[in-house]
Amino acid sequence: MLSTDNTLNWFKNYTNKYKVNGKFSSMHAVKFEHSKRVCEIACSIGKSMEWNNEREKWLAYSLGLLHDIGRFPQYSEYGTFLDSQSFDHGDRGETILAQEFIWNGISEEDKQCLMTGVRCHNKKDVPSNLSEEKLKWCFLVRDADKIDIFRMIQQRIDNNTIFDILPRHKKFKGLTNTLVEEIGQDSMGSYNNARSLQDYRLIQLTWGVDLNFPISVNTLQEEGIFDKIIEDLRPYKIDALLNKLVEKIYA
Ligand SMILES: [Fe+2]
Repeated sequence: MLSTDNTLNWFKNYTNKYKVNGKFSSMHAVKFEHSKRVCEIACSIGKSMEWNNEREKWLAYSLGLLHDIGRFPQYSEYGTFLDSQSFDHGDRGETILAQEFIWNGISEEDKQCLMTGVRCHNKKDVPSNLSEEKLKWCFLVRDADKIDIFRMIQQRIDNNTIFDILPRHKKFKGLTNTLVEEIGQDSMGSYNNARSLQDYRLIQLTWGVDLNFPISVNTLQEEGIFDKIIEDLRPYKIDALLNKLVEKIYA
């Protein structure tokens, strides 16, 4: 049976294993809360697309809630959320679900949509050989995930806690030339070239180009989040690049 209650119960039971003395570490707590918010965002994007039947509602909910399930063992085993220093958390998420989720009453097609969405949510590019149906769910979870991260980063900048989660970026200020050049070429930047908060903000803006649904762009625009990123980057004299990215976001 497709039941969002069953998904929520499974998620709570699975993540409970990572509590110590009944409590999550602060990093696990961050991921637990992020998962619940992404679930809500995914459901509201689905609603805006009028994906209202039982299976569509279940997939939006389950993808949002379960997309980062691989983060829980990742932090326990490696003490980091860097995939490059541990494992690909999308791939691990898919494996966990394949082995441990309760699939009774769920069709093979729905199972594959859920597992593919989890596997692909964090990939730089979505594989080009996916069916239209799988692509739809990948796009949904990727947008929902990005929206929550955009909001979370903005909140942390506004309340001065950003360096709690980006400690490495505290040492440098301003933009790194290699990153600016990289983004100028293909509108994407790699974290390896990001040293400062401004570099991180520029990479964030490129995520806007990768959003799939009009409602995702509109939501972030209405919240003023793109404008705030641009405002932060204005002093660094990259107006032509900023204009190009903004044009692509709204295209
Ligand atoms: Fe993720």
